[in-house]
This record gives sequence, C-alpha cells and structure tokens, in this order.
Amino acid sequence: MLKNKIQFLLNDRLISLSDINPNTSILQYLRSCTGKSGTKEGCASGDCGACTVVTVEYAGGDLRYKSLNACISLLPSLHGKQLLTVEDLQDGDKLHPVQKAMVDFHGSQCGFCTPGFIMSLFALHKNNPEPEKAQTLEALAGNLCRCTGYRAIIDAASAAKNHGPDQFDRNKRNTIAALAKIQKTSLLKLSEGDQVAYSPSSLSELTDLMLAHPNARIIAGGTDIVLEITQMMKSLGTIIYVGNVPELQEFEESDAQFTLGAALPFSDFTPSIATHYHEFGEMIERIGSLQIRNQGTLGGNIGNASPIADTPPVLIALDAKLNLRLGNKNRIISIEDYFIDYKKTSQQKSEFIQSIIIPKAKENSYLKVYKISKRFDDDISAVLAAFNLVIEDDVVKSVRIAFGGMAGTPKRAIKCEKELIGKPWTQASIENGMQALEQDFTPMSDVRASANYRMVVAKNLLQKAFIEITQPTINTGVVQYA
Ligand SMILES: Cc1cc2nc3c(=O)[nH]c(=O)nc-3n(C[C@H](O)[C@H](O)[C@H](O)COP(=O)(O)OP(=O)(O)OC[C@H]3O[C@@H](n4cnc5c(N)ncnc54)[C@H](O)[C@@H]3O)c2cc1C
Ligand code: FES
Ligand code: FES
Repeated sequence: MLKNKIQFLLNDRLISLSDINPNTSILQYLRSCTGKSGTKEGCASGDCGACTVVTVEYAGGDLRYKSLNACISLLPSLHGKQLLTVEDLQDGDKLHPVQKAMVDFHGSQCGFCTPGFIMSLFALHKNNPEPEKAQTLEALAGNLCRCTGYRAIIDAASAAKNHGPDQFDRNKRNTIAALAKIQKTSLLKLSEGDQVAYSPSSLSELTDLMLAHPNARIIAGGTDIVLEITQMMKSLGTIIYVGNVPELQEFEESDAQFTLGAALPFSDFTPSIATHYHEFGEMIERIGSLQIRNQGTLGGNIGNASPIADTPPVLIALDAKLNLRLGNKNRIISIEDYFIDYKKTSQQKSEFIQSIIIPKAKENSYLKVYKISKRFDDDISAVLAAFNLVIEDDVVKSVRIAFGGMAGTPKRAIKCEKELIGKPWTQASIENGMQALEQDFTPMSDVRASANYRMVVAKNLLQKAFIEITQPTINTGVVQYA
C-alpha cells in the first residue's frame, strides 16, 4: 500500500511529513522547519562534521546510535528512525555527561564545530561506554576544527567514559515501542511539484519502481549523489531511496564467499570483512569519516562509477561479482565488466545492483591494499592499489592487480600481471612488473596528484607489496599517527 508520508521521532516527538520537497536535507529541515539551529552548516559537503546529528535505529534487539552528516542526508532516509540533535542532550537543566566533560576539560570551542563534536562523542559513548583512544580518534576524524585543536576534546572524551545511564537509557523502552509503531512495510512517497521520492520496502517494490521510472536516480547513503544538490545546486527529479529494502541490507557469509546487500552501510559490514581481509577492512575504515561510513554503501561506491572510489580496485583484485537485477531477472557479472568508461557502466536502464559477492581468500594467497591520500582520514585517494597474489614454492601461481586513480575507471594492470604470472617471486620479476605498469596506465594530473607522482607511487606500491610479503618483519609503514 502506498503511503504519502514519512514518519520518524524527533527526540521523543512523532513527526509525520508529507508535501515537502524530498530533496530537503535533514540539516535544512532542522534549521528551517523546526527552529532547531544548534546543528550547524560548515561545508555542506560531508567534510567538516559541523552538521553531525545522531540517528537511532532498533536493530538486533537493541538501539543503535549512528552519527551522520545532516547536510548530505535527505529526509526520506529518516523514516522509522529517531533523530537526535545537540538540543536533545541536556536533561532538564543538567548537561549531558558528554557536554559536561567538554566544559570541564575546556573542549568547548566555537559554536560551529562544537555541536558536531558533541554529537560524535555522544554516539561514540552510547555504543561504546569505554572507548579506547583509537576509537575516540576514529569517531572524531570527521569533525574538523580549523583554529584551535583536538587535545582538550580527546581529554573530554576520556573523562566521559562510563558516565552511567542517561535519559535515553531511561526512555529506552518507550523509544523502542514508539519506533515499533512506525509502519515500515509500505511503499512511501514524498513529493512536492516535480520532485518525487519513493522509498520501497521490498525488492519487488523496488524492481517495479525502477521499471516504471527508468530515469529515476537511485539513492542509498546519498554521500555522493546529494552533493549534486548541495554543491552543484541541482534537483534530482525522481529519486528512489533503497535504504529500506531488506534484501539490499542482507549480509551472508559462507565457506566460499561473502554476499553483501548493495545498500548495507560500510560501518555495518566492515568488522566482518576485516576479520577475513584485514587490509581491506583497514582501508574501508579510511573511507571518509565515521559519519560517511555510517551512511555510505558499497552499492553506492560502485554505482557512482568514480575512478577514485576506494573499494572497486580491491573488489576487482578479489574477482568480486555483482548481482544485478532488472525486472524479475538477475544476472551475475564480474565487477570488472561493470566499469566501461569514465563514469559509464554496463548497468542497463531500470537495472540496479542488488548485492556484491566477494570470494574468500585462496590458500597461500596475499591481499595487499594501499590507499595514498594527502590526509590519513577523511580524504579521497590519489592512488589506490590492490594486489591479490597466490605464491607457492616462490612462484606466482595467480595474480590480480587493480588500481584506482590511474585511469578513467578503476582498472586491472593486465600487462603487469603478465610479467608476474608463473614467474619466480623475485626482485627481478617485480622490476619487470613495475616497468609494465607504464604500458598499463597513462595517469592524469589533477588537484590530488601529478601524472608522474601517480606512476612513481604505483610502481613503488608493487615494490612495497613485494617487501611486505617476502620480509613481513620489515616495517614499511607509518607506525604512529597521533
Ligand atoms: C566527505 C566525503 C568523504 C568521502 N570519502 C571517500 C573515500 O575516502 N573513499 C571513497 O571511495 N569514497 C568517498 N566518498 C564518496 C562516497 O562516500 C562513497 O562513494 C560511498 O560509497 C557512496 O555510497 P552512497 O550509498 O552514499 O551512494 P549514493 O550517493 O547514494 O549513490 C552514489 C551513486 O551510486 C548509485 N547507486 C547507489 N546504490 C545503487 C545500487 N544499489 N545500484 C545501482 N546504483 C546505485 C546512485 O544512483 C548514485 O549514482 C566520500 C564522500 C564524502 C561526502
Ligand atoms: S556541514 Fe560540513 S559536514 Fe555537513
Ligand atoms: S572551527 Fe570551531 S573552534 Fe575551530
């Protein structure tokens, strides 16, 4: 049944919205429609964290708190969730323990960045009352201050550990009951003029909508596509939000492979992937910030078809497959065949990515993944390299190498692979492989790196992979960041 409204809790108040432009961001809604102006706009591009809010979902028998960037999240994504802003943290006339710690440790800085820092710390402490320093740094990596510093904030985070129950814990049963009352099994529609958003609640509804609206734009986390609204001042026309389709949120692990629903946010599946492919997991933890990973999805990272998206080179090296759906038919293709040219894919009209299939590691295999960017966190890659090798008796039995940032698409280094396959795993073979990269790629210069830098780095990363595999005790990386 079609419903022409979305519903969510704004703190403890049930909100029903209809007749509102579905291109409205949560930030615009808060500041323009509710008078809640504590959430700030800094960049409107997901970079600074000034707009950080927290959404709360009931999942796995408990409430899960997620920080996200309100500037690049559209209203349809709120359906069925609780939205908390900095105004909601105070309990009567008492500051929330996270706020109090920020005051006590002089972590409260200007009015632009502080609300965002508070909300990131709040989400961190709700999910993990005793965070390690590394977890605190991870939670704050998407909150930027351009003038003061972070030490006092990190001290405040540490002081707020184990602060005991707050009003959200005391209201937990009521919140769960209120969220349960919001119907999540209907097709939702939000529209104003020619701006229409659909939010299907099943795979069949999504499939039908895609057939009925072949020019509609799919939106998952919105961390790429919403920048068209906030940075390019475009309207998206008809959009189909896929975050409420259970089949696109599935996660399955078998002996042979992982199957990941295309709309599963990064932060939901990274721990499972990291236990099997440690370096892939570490790299995903460097995608944007925690706010971005709480929203952004693997389907969006692939569907955006950017040559500098981080996961496609790794997925190509792992020989991952895409499960594409069109009408009532599915087809499985190699992810390599999805990218055909700059921002062009082999996806047909009305087709979409349902899931991504990632094979598990073979015996004697090594996966090396390197992300090269100017900043460690919250930065886009200049070059991303992924090497997947099987080495037996010092001979390369199988090799798949792929790069991002080196061509108009994420691309395999076929010539380089040819120099290595069946060859002894030696420095001489590696040098031939490094040379062959010049035939594989003609990189370009842009704001992130020059063509020459990219080529030198690509070659050096192959050398680095060789050293790390042959002499694992040699330290080739930066060992301490903070
Ligand atoms: C501040 C910031 C930092 C970032 N840092 C990084 C980074 O470090 N590394 C990186 O790789 N990316 C980064 N990104 C880009 C972005 O976060 C990722 O590409 C993310 O994976 C996109 O997922 P999404 O769900 O938000 O996609 P959306 O924005 O919802 O969609 C992106 C595109 O994919 C299409 N799409 C979505 N789902 C499907 C589907 N199921 N089938 C077919 N098409 C689909 C959409 O139509 C759209 O064209 C960053 C973005 C921001 C704003
Ligand atoms: S305003 Fe900067 S991340 Fe949203
Ligand atoms: S941006 Fe707020 S104190 Fe620096």
